[in-house]
Amino acid sequence: MVRHQVNSSQRPIGIFDSGIGGLTVLKEIFERLPHESTLYLGDTARVPYGIRSPETVTRYSFENTRFLVSRDIKMLVIACNTVSSVSLDALRCNFPVPVVGVIGPGAKAAAAATKTKKVGVIGTEATVSSGSYTRAIQSIDSSIEVFSISCPLFVPLVEEGWTEGLITELTAEKYLAGVRDKAIDTLVLGCTHYPLLKPVFSKIMEDSVGLIDSAIETAMEIRSILKEQSLLNAPGSPVRHKFFVTDAPQKFLTVGERFLGRNIEHIEKIKLEMEV
Ligand code: DGL
Repeated sequence: MVRHQVNSSQRPIGIFDSGIGGLTVLKEIFERLPHESTLYLGDTARVPYGIRSPETVTRYSFENTRFLVSRDIKMLVIACNTVSSVSLDALRCNFPVPVVGVIGPGAKAAAAATKTKKVGVIGTEATVSSGSYTRAIQSIDSSIEVFSISCPLFVPLVEEGWTEGLITELTAEKYLAGVRDKAIDTLVLGCTHYPLLKPVFSKIMEDSVGLIDSAIETAMEIRSILKEQSLLNAPGSPVRHKFFVTDAPQKFLTVGERFLGRNIEHIEKIKLEMEV
C-alpha cells in the first residue's frame, strides 16, 4: 500500500543496491543533497548480482523496486552498476517514479573528460558483458574508443576490508594491465565498490589518467532532476534516513559504516515479496 505524505517534495529518495556497495552512492547523496530523506535497500541475501543473468537481475530489481515504491518514494536511484546496465529500461517502463541509474552520469563525465578519446571501464562481469558503458559513451561521442575489463575479485576484496595492501595491489595490477597498454586517459570505476580502491588505482595508473566516480556524477544528476521537477526538499524540513536489508543486518552495519563514513541508525531486516 502506498502511504502518501502531504508535501510531495518531503517524500524520501529510494535507493537500492545488491548489497552494501551502493552506500558509496548514498554517501555522495548525503554530501550533495543534505536536505533529502532517504530509504536505502540492500539486497544482502542475494548479493552479488554481478555474476547473474540479466533475467535474474531484472527479477530481483523489480522486487526491490516494488518494496521502495510501496513506501512512497519520490524518485528511485539504482545505485548498482549491474542493475543499471541490464534493468534500467524495464524499471523505467514499469514504475511511476523518475528512475536514475549510474551508467548515464558516469558515461557523460567520461566523455567530457577524455582528451585522447580512449576510455577504460572496469566493472562486474554482467556490467562489462552488457556493453552498457560503451554504448552510453559512444552515444555521446562515437569516436571514443572504450576498453572494458571485468574485475570480479575487487568486490570480495572490498567487502573483506582489503582496500589496500599487497594482495589488492597485485590483483589491481593484473586487471589494469589490460587497459594500461591502451593509452587511456580516463578510467571509469563502473562498480559500486571501486571508489574505495581509488588510492590503489591511482598508484598503478599514470598520473595523467583521471578516475571517474559514477557515484559523484549520479548524485549531481539526482540533484538536477529533483530541481527540474520542483521536488527538492526545502532546507529546514525534517530529514530521515532509513536502511533495509534482506539478510545479515549486523554485517551490513559493520561494513556499511566504513563505506558510508558515518553511523547507520534505523536498520530493519525485511522479507521481499517474490514474483511468482
Ligand atoms: N553493486 C554491484 C555493481 O555495482 C557490485 C556487487 C554485485 O556484484 O552485486 O555492479
